[in-house]
Amino acid sequence: MIDMHKIIVVGGGGHGKVVISLLKKLAHFTVSGYVDLVDHGDLLGIPYLGDDSALGDFFKLGMVHAALGLGQLQEAGHREKLAAKMVEIGYKFPLLVSPHAIVNEACRLGDGTVVMDGAVVQTGTMVGNFSIINTCATVDHDCRIGDNVHIAPGATLCGCVQIDSCCLVGSGATIVQGIHVAAQCHIGAGAVVTKNIYKQGTYAGVPARPIGDKAP
Ligand SMILES: CC(C)(COP(=O)(O)OP(=O)(O)OC[C@H]1O[C@@H](n2cnc3c(N)ncnc32)[C@H](O)[C@@H]1OP(=O)(O)O)[C@@H](O)C(=O)NCCC(=O)NCCS
Repeated sequence: MIDMHKIIVVGGGGHGKVVISLLKKLAHFTVSGYVDLVDHGDLLGIPYLGDDSALGDFFKLGMVHAALGLGQLQEAGHREKLAAKMVEIGYKFPLLVSPHAIVNEACRLGDGTVVMDGAVVQTGTMVGNFSIINTCATVDHDCRIGDNVHIAPGATLCGCVQIDSCCLVGSGATIVQGIHVAAQCHIGAGAVVTKNIYKQGTYAGVPARPIGDKAP
């Protein structure tokens, strides 16, 4: 029997909209609304509830489940801080896996993680909490992905890759087998990472190299 629970979505931008669409498709929850600093109007028929100052009140009204609808490129650390505050209030963040994704056996995925349409997570892979395995991303066997990691659409992690917490792996990027990427790195769209990355920073190109002002 389908268990219907109320759920609230945090963030009403592009990623929030995709999360709402996923929740509607899963039909395990009724989406009460979304919170955001900005009123984006109705999103796929889901109403705006205001900013996050009322999250404590919503919890008391029985909206005990929540989903993060914030992508990874927000103000640094905002996503993690907000999730931590909500966990402290008592919110539960279910793991959300699209029925059109494939998660094979012997994988473990944490609370608040979302796996979008067309994504493949191969056997033996572990993913932490609040991570995003986005549309058509491939995470092959025995990978280790930390908390708050965003594997963007179409990215490929070959087998035995380790991505530490709070990283973005850009759309279409490839991380070759056995590579370790340190926490808080941004890997550019289309990059190919062929060597371990030990320092926080932004890396892009083929093969991937440090770029920009924030280059290590
Ligand atoms: C790598 C990235 C994080 C860099 O962002 P940034 O720090 O704001 O960098 P900038 O846009 O200022 O670019 C700095 C330089 O790197 C180059 N560059 C940026 N992204 C690049 C990429 N993916 N590949 C190659 N070069 C890139 C820019 O052209 C620029 O070069 P220049 O100095 O010669 O003009 C970003 O461009 C990116 O690729 N993000 C991933 C986006 C994505 O996949 N989002 C998923 C949403 S669901």
